[in-house]
Amino acid sequence: MCSKSLVSIEDISKDEILDLLERARYFEQHPNSKILDGKVAATLFFEPSTRTRLSFETAVNRLGGRIIGFSDPGTSSSVKGETLKDTIKMVSNYTDIIIMRHFLEGAARYATEVTDVPIINAGDGANQHPSQTMLDLYSIMKTQGGLENLTITMVGDLKYGRTVHSLLMAMKYFNPRFIFVASKELAMPQEYKDFCRAEGIEYIETEDFSPEVINQSDIIYMTRVQRERFTDPMEYERVKDLYTLHNAMLEGSKPNLRILHPLPRVNEIDRDVDDNPKAYYFDQARNGLFARQAIITRALGINPLEK
Ligand code: CP
Repeated sequence: MCSKSLVSIEDISKDEILDLLERARYFEQHPNSKILDGKVAATLFFEPSTRTRLSFETAVNRLGGRIIGFSDPGTSSSVKGETLKDTIKMVSNYTDIIIMRHFLEGAARYATEVTDVPIINAGDGANQHPSQTMLDLYSIMKTQGGLENLTITMVGDLKYGRTVHSLLMAMKYFNPRFIFVASKELAMPQEYKDFCRAEGIEYIETEDFSPEVINQSDIIYMTRVQRERFTDPMEYERVKDLYTLHNAMLEGSKPNLRILHPLPRVNEIDRDVDDNPKAYYFDQARNGLFARQAIITRALGINPLEK
């Protein structure tokens, strides 16, 4: 495995996270350059994406590199029966870095075992989404002035939501307090609650998205109930609209509160929240460009801060 791959947020230390955040800050000031001149990146998306794929591709383009890949596996030889192993080995012949999203948990980790080209996990099933975590951390840092001692409320699909799983793990370095708001069917999985206990992280669970919860939060992280993860459509119908944030619910919230959402949203955040200064989800997605420029340059051993 290439040591510069990023498969799980657990692969990197606190110092490496802080280095990536510093790079992201640099790229926000300097988004365009030629530091990837001569480099080729592949984006292999076996699952749909708007933000992740386009921001990774923009990140490469703005730094002077080139992109190959596919956004629809139906146009690749995987439909002829080519295995993931063979696909990764083939693409490794052509590129300096592979950015991949796959519906199977563990697919990105598996890819690192069959190539020496750095692999960036752009989401594997319900498991991990580490580049989303880096842009989430960058967004939290920018809006809160730091990452320490924050109350972060996670709402919605905490069972299948890979973004909340990755963020929870990354926050272990920063003394967070979590409030998990979910129905029983979509509660935070036991392994992540065990993780909190092992790391000494305080958390509470509730099904009630109450004013008391909202008014003590520094960050509210809303999530979409992911229809694509359900095997039973009736169960999806029953839980899909349980939690919707409306503007009026923010009346007593803290001045520093910011609303995050990895997007896309469906009904979790009413459109009447969009003009509230505490709504940060579109800026959050913009931060993805800078966070991904940071991740790509680290993976390729290029440090824009050393000049
Ligand atoms: N947040 C996120 O992963 O969005 P996309 O599915 O559009 O990439």
